[in-house]
Amino acid sequence: MKNIIVTGGAGFIGANFVLHMLQKYDNYNIIVYDKLTYAGNLDNLLEVADDPRYSFVQGDICDAEMVEATIQKYNADTIVNFAAETHVDRSIMNPDAFIQTGVYGTYVLLEAAKKHGLRYHQISTDEVYGHIPEGQSSVETDKLDPRSPYAASKASGDLLVNAYFITYDLPVTITRGSNNIGPFQYPEKVVPLFATNAIDEEPLPLYGDGRQMREYQYVLDHCEAIDLVLHKGKLGEAYNIGTGEEMENVQMVEILLETLNRPKDLIKHVKDREGHDRRYSLNIDKIKALGWQPRHTSAEAVAKTAVWYRENEWWWRKIKSGEFKEYYERQYGHRWQTEKE
Ligand code: NAD
Ligand code: DAU
Repeated sequence: MKNIIVTGGAGFIGANFVLHMLQKYDNYNIIVYDKLTYAGNLDNLLEVADDPRYSFVQGDICDAEMVEATIQKYNADTIVNFAAETHVDRSIMNPDAFIQTGVYGTYVLLEAAKKHGLRYHQISTDEVYGHIPEGQSSVETDKLDPRSPYAASKASGDLLVNAYFITYDLPVTITRGSNNIGPFQYPEKVVPLFATNAIDEEPLPLYGDGRQMREYQYVLDHCEAIDLVLHKGKLGEAYNIGTGEEMENVQMVEILLETLNRPKDLIKHVKDREGHDRRYSLNIDKIKALGWQPRHTSAEAVAKTAVWYRENEWWWRKIKSGEFKEYYERQYGHRWQTEKE
């Protein structure tokens, strides 16, 4: 591996992965290929903007010609695909771009990887397993049972990747991560939304009873695991990446408010998300056996993330005053009226 294309590398996890790789390895060139949708942000990559090992190409993964030209120009040998539409609530309002990027875009990258004999890694999610009843945890061989348009677009990507391994012997791996939190996450996702609202003493719209369970993991832990799978993962295999501990959203909010020294009465229970998956839970024995473990508990990850948002208003204030405002009104305007006492 020498020249790695990181698609979606200007987004939250992709950018953290790029920073991690450039810091850890001297001899890799990283080419970020990103469409710069509302979620893509070159501020996330400011730290490496002048690094000669880093290049940026603005492009869509659905654009086969542009993907081809980028592979040729940079003599790429590896693709790590983070590019996706990623917010479940937006997928409920308007699934179109989710299907385009998650299904067709993944196909375009796989075709290009096949043509040039590239190593291919797909970033996937625990949401492909669907809601998991209490007492159970997902293992990598479980049947995929996605329940939102977002999750279905990601599961489709996984199936395509697997098909290219079986049919064409393409050297692929997949990682399925739980909820990431940390620096540079667009403030539509629950932790940065609630942290920034709390800093401004604005209400926190908690869906339903707030007893849904998620595995909140620190983004750099996830990036270390992806790095490990890229180097040591068995080809054709998927690896779950999480904390192995679950947390109810109400607990997450309490840690966040305590860290930011804000009162609990900021929490407003609002109308639930349609088709809301109540619980995800990953069995992470397989990635642990490869030699990885998370460095942060979920509670540490939530607190550390809250502090980052308190200390980095330069990053999020301009986002929250732009496109975000219109989205916020569309997503939450009617929800405040259904607030439970
Ligand atoms: P994000 O929304 O912050 O960033 C997505 C990036 O992809 C943006 O930079 C965007 O501009 C780019 N992009 C979107 N469509 C594109 C296209 N057609 N062509 C090129 N670039 C495009 O997302 P994230 O939270 O960093 O997630 C990254 C990946 O990790 C996604 O594949 C997501 O499904 C997966 N994932 C996310 C989480 C999480 O908790 N955030 C957990 C598990 C897996
Ligand atoms: O599980 C991995 C997935 O985590 C990733 O694949 C997705 O890309 C990522 O967006 C995330 O999906 P979730 O739907 O779990 O994340 P979100 O931050 O939107 O919501 C987390 C939980 O918080 C979920 O139970 C819904 C709840 N929530 C969310 C928002 C935005 C609220 O209660 N209120 C809110 O305003």
